[in-house]
Amino acid sequence: MKVAAIVGSIRQDSYNLKLAKHIQARYADQFDVEILDLTPLPMYNQDIELDPPQEVLDFKEKVKEADAVLWVTPEYNASIPGVLGNAIDWLSRVDKVMIGKPSIIMGSSMGNLGSVKAQMHLRDILFASGLNSPVLRGNEVYVGAVHQKFDENGNLVDEATIAFLDGVIANFQDWMRQYV
Ligand code: FNR
Repeated sequence: MKVAAIVGSIRQDSYNLKLAKHIQARYADQFDVEILDLTPLPMYNQDIELDPPQEVLDFKEKVKEADAVLWVTPEYNASIPGVLGNAIDWLSRVDKVMIGKPSIIMGSSMGNLGSVKAQMHLRDILFASGLNSPVLRGNEVYVGAVHQKFDENGNLVDEATIAFLDGVIANFQDWMRQYV
C-alpha cells in the first residue's frame, strides 16, 4: 500500500512535517509513506496547465500512483496555507488525479486547537467536485500544543497522541481498503 503525504508547511523544522515523519516511521510495516515536497511547485496558472513544468507532472504522478493521500496541515490565518491551496489547485485540474482517491486529514499547531479550522476547510475542499476525494470521517486528529509533544530530535514523545494515532491509522487502514 502506498500513501502520498502532502504537508501544508515547507518550513524546514515544520511540526507538521515531523508528524508526517512519525506516521511514515511508525507504520512502515503497514504501508509506504512518501512525503511529497511542495517547494518546487510553481504557482498554479491556467495558461500553463495543459503543458506544465516537469515539477508539476512529477508531483501529480506521485499522487496518481499512491493508493491514498495523507494531508498534514498547519493553520494559516484560520484556513489552509497558500502552498497547500496551490498544490490542490494543480491536483484539481486536467487529469484530476484525486477523483476517488481516499484521503485522511490531520494537523497540528502550537495553540490548543490543532489547526481545526484549516482541517475543516480542507475537508470541504476535498469533497468539492474538482477533487471528489472520499475523506475518512471521524478520526479527526488535532494535535494542539505541538511544540510540547516532540523532543529536540523531532520524535513524537506524547504517549496519548501516539496511542490515539495508532487507533486512527488502524481505522484508516480498514476504511481505505474499499477504494484500492
Ligand atoms: C500561523 N499560525 C496560526 N496558528 C493558528 O492556530 N491559527 C492561525 O490562524 C494561524 N495563522 C498563521 C499564519 C501564518 C502566516 C503563520 C506563519 C503562522 C501559527 C502556525 O500554526 C504555527 O506557526 C505552526 O507551527 C506552523 O506549522 P509548521 O510549520 O510547524 O508545520
